[in-house]
Amino acid sequence: MSKTEVVAVDGWEVLDSRGTPTVACEVRLAGGAVGQASVPSGASTGRHEAVELRDGGDRYGGLGVLLAVGNVKGPLASAAVGADAADLAELDRALRAADGTPLLARLGSNAVLAVSVASAIAAAAAEGIPLYRWVAGNVEVSLPLPMVNVVSGGAHAGRAVDVQDVLVVPMGAASFGEALEWAWRVRRGTAEVAADRGLLTALVADEGGLGPPLPSNRAAMELVVAGIERAGLAPGEQVGLAIDVAANQLCDRDGYRFAAEDRLLTTAELVDEVIGWCGDYPIVSVEDVLAEDDWDGWTAATSRLRGVQVLGDDLFATDLRRLERGIGLGVANAVLVKPNQNGTVSGAEAVLRRARAAGYAPVVSARSGETEDAWLADLAVGWGAGQIKVGSTMRSERTAKWNRLLRIEAELGAAASFAGAGALGHGDRLGATGSEASMAAYSDRL
Ligand code: PGA
Ligand code: ZN
Repeated sequence: MSKTEVVAVDGWEVLDSRGTPTVACEVRLAGGAVGQASVPSGASTGRHEAVELRDGGDRYGGLGVLLAVGNVKGPLASAAVGADAADLAELDRALRAADGTPLLARLGSNAVLAVSVASAIAAAAAEGIPLYRWVAGNVEVSLPLPMVNVVSGGAHAGRAVDVQDVLVVPMGAASFGEALEWAWRVRRGTAEVAADRGLLTALVADEGGLGPPLPSNRAAMELVVAGIERAGLAPGEQVGLAIDVAANQLCDRDGYRFAAEDRLLTTAELVDEVIGWCGDYPIVSVEDVLAEDDWDGWTAATSRLRGVQVLGDDLFATDLRRLERGIGLGVANAVLVKPNQNGTVSGAEAVLRRARAAGYAPVVSARSGETEDAWLADLAVGWGAGQIKVGSTMRSERTAKWNRLLRIEAELGAAASFAGAGALGHGDRLGATGSEASMAAYSDRL
C-alpha cells in the first residue's frame, strides 16, 4: 500500500462567512497524512456552475448540507478509498464518476470539491511540502497580482449600486506585499473620502467592501479613483480599476436593468455604457459585462473592449466546454477560475491551463461566501495563475487568503517571483505584455 493511498474520508457541516452551512471534509492517507478542507459558496451564481446540494426543509432555513455530508461519507468515500491522492486527476475522475452527472447535481459539487481539496492537502502533507509546492510540481511558482474589492454593490451589498464590485488592481507594485499594502491604503483613502462626503462607511458588504449609498455606478468608480488619489497613488499608473458588472444579475426579459439608476439598456447600450466608463476611469479589467448566454453580445463586446482585460465569470463557469466555445468565438481574453464552479481541483486546473494555452489570462477567485480556509492561495501560487481575487483587505475569511500569500512570499524570500501587471489579460495578449498594453490603453484615453 502506498503512503498516499486514501484510507478514510469524513465529512461534517460548518458555517461559511455569511453564516450559511457548507461542507467540510477530512481525508486520511495510509501513511498517516491528513488533509482538511471546507468549501465556499456564491451569491451571484450562474446557471452553468456545478450544482450545490442543499437539504431544503426547516433546518437552517433549508440551506443545510447534511445530504451533501452524507454523500461525502457514503458514495464519495467509497470512490476515494483505495485511490492514490498523489494522482489527483484520477481521484477526481473517480469522484465525478460516482456522481455521474456533468454538473455534479446528484451528490453535490459542494460534497465533491470538499473531498478533492482535502485529498490534495493530504497528498502535500504526505510529502511534507506546502500545498503550493505540491501543486506546482517542478514548475516555477509565482505570487499573483491581487484584484481587491473596494466598493460593493449588486447582490453583495443590498444593490446600493448596480455594478457588483469596483475593485483595484495595484499593477505598479513590485511585490505581492506592496500590492496588498497599496490596496489597503486605497480602501482607507476611499473610506475617508466617503466619510468627508457624509456617506456612511461603517457597514461592510459580503466581501468586506464598502457599501455606501451612491447615486450611480459612475459615482462608485469616481469615489474609488478619489480614494486612490487620497492614498497618494497614481490612478491608471500605479493602481487601476477593475469592475465586475455581474450582468446576469441585471438581466431580465426586457434587457439590462440598472435599478438604482432607473434605466433599461439593450446589450449594445450596456456595452456602450461600459466603454464610456473605460474612457473616463482607469479601468483595466471588466468582468461579466453581459449575461452568461449572450454569446453574440460577448463577441462584439470583446472586440470593442480591446486593450482591457475582458473577464468571463458566469460566462465560462470554470467549465472547459464553455471556455472552448469562448476561445472558438474569440470571446473574452481572461477567465475567472473558481474551483467550486467546476467541482474538482484538477478540473479547475484544466480550465486554467487551457486558458493560458489560448492566450487567456486566468484569475483565481474566491466566492462571496467563504470559509477561513486558505487553500485557494496555495492553488493560485502553485498554478502560477498570475492573478487572484479574494474580496477586500478585511474580514477573516478574506485575510486568511491574503495572509497565506504573505506567508508564502516570506517563505520564498528573495526567490519570490511576483506576477505583477504582466498577468493582466487584454485583446493583444499574444503581442505586447499586459502591463504595456493596459497602461498604453489608459494613456490613450487620457
Ligand atoms: P459570488 O460573487 O461568489 O457571489 O458569485 C463573486 C463574483 O461574481 O465574482
Ligand atoms: Zn463575478
